[in-house]
Amino acid sequence: MEVTGKIIPPKERMPLASLDDPVLRDTAKPVKSFDDDLVSLLDKMANTMHHEGGIGLAAPQIGVSRRIVVAEFRDELVELINPEIVLEEGSQVGYEGCLSVPGYMGEVERPEKIRLRYVDRTGDKHWLDADGWDARVLSHELGHLEGQLFIDCSSRVLRLKPELGLRIVFMGTPEFADVILDSLLEDGYKVVGAVTAPDRRRGRGQKVTPSPVKERALDFEIPVLQPESAAEDPEFSRYLSWLEPDLTITAAYGRILSPEILKVPRLGSVNVHASLLPKYRGAAPIQRQILNGESEIGVTIYWMDEGMDSGPIIHQEPIEVTEDITAGELHDRLAEAGATALKEALGKIVAGEGEGEPQDHSRATFAPKISRGENVIDWSLSARAIERVVRAFNPKPGAETTWRGNRLKILKATTEHGRARPGEIVAVSEEGIIVGTGDGLCRITAVQPSSKKAMDVGDFVRGYDVQPGEILGGSE
Ligand code: NI
Repeated sequence: MEVTGKIIPPKERMPLASLDDPVLRDTAKPVKSFDDDLVSLLDKMANTMHHEGGIGLAAPQIGVSRRIVVAEFRDELVELINPEIVLEEGSQVGYEGCLSVPGYMGEVERPEKIRLRYVDRTGDKHWLDADGWDARVLSHELGHLEGQLFIDCSSRVLRLKPELGLRIVFMGTPEFADVILDSLLEDGYKVVGAVTAPDRRRGRGQKVTPSPVKERALDFEIPVLQPESAAEDPEFSRYLSWLEPDLTITAAYGRILSPEILKVPRLGSVNVHASLLPKYRGAAPIQRQILNGESEIGVTIYWMDEGMDSGPIIHQEPIEVTEDITAGELHDRLAEAGATALKEALGKIVAGEGEGEPQDHSRATFAPKISRGENVIDWSLSARAIERVVRAFNPKPGAETTWRGNRLKILKATTEHGRARPGEIVAVSEEGIIVGTGDGLCRITAVQPSSKKAMDVGDFVRGYDVQPGEILGGSE
């Protein structure tokens, strides 16, 4: 299994002291011996800070009354032992949070610039100058050494939405999942790990490319796990448990999860599904809803169980769509709706109202994976059905037919009244190519000829001298 980023096993870190632990209120004691114990404590502090997603940590926060601070400073880790502020200049007012006071932010006045004196893990002396945000972080951390918390000196304290405190592991692979992950990250949700399919050869030139979810996670410095088989890889379940998720959120992950994996997160595993369950369970709800001309469209957030998309529903959100919506457009709309619905569901879960409603299995319908050839137009179907095939495969892979012995992609089509032999072109103009079907006519308005760019029908008609009487989908 490929692992990108650092995931820290429990024995290499420490639990955080709780807010009522008196150690947080003591004046910490100076470090006197620079021995292996100190090195081990420093490593555990850095690991704990990393695991908790903090940018600074003082030893009292893990229950150790010592004058030690670790912090991210100019993108590097600094270890400050027996630090003292020797100079403070100016002032700044802004919001900050603290791992010891989860769920809150407070407005605090801090110096704009500070100069510190400290020693490193070998006992060597150093000076450090910090300003702006760095000065805020370091003066906050040094406060911990005096038994101070930001809430003591805050003029305004904000309670954060409790769901922002959930440790989330996000599992997904394609664009649909990435839209949801991005939305969570932008809103400040705590995503502590991402799980995605192994890198694959994709696109032109078959370059090995990471999934959209992996790229997003790496941008946000979130560790990424890529098991070949999440259900069977014991290493995967071990790493997942080290991340200590409260919840896993799955969206278009595309792989089966075992009951053992589903049990790792403290609260459970939720999935974002692109249909109003119990309808359209399975891998291809977006295309299937278009192919079937479904009018009740939306997203469902549900608790995963061992079945396929069959768990209790936490929240559903219907969306309004026009009758000419393409799969690409519907994908984007449902991904956005999925992100919104997911946040609603997370709110319900932390409020204790998220147990979910069992699905009515007798009403379940299925949306199996699209198989090869389903995008090839059968002109003997009705114009209505063909128009749906065109929308269901726009933009990818495109509905296909043959013309003059080559492949022709039909990107846009509408229906017309009339009758003609299936596949026969009966009228050609700048406004469309009219083709016979099993029932009614199709007006083709955008195409992509083999190894050419997508084009409007006007350009196609002019460029290729298309004539009435020609046959689409013929075998010649
Ligand atoms: Ni703090």
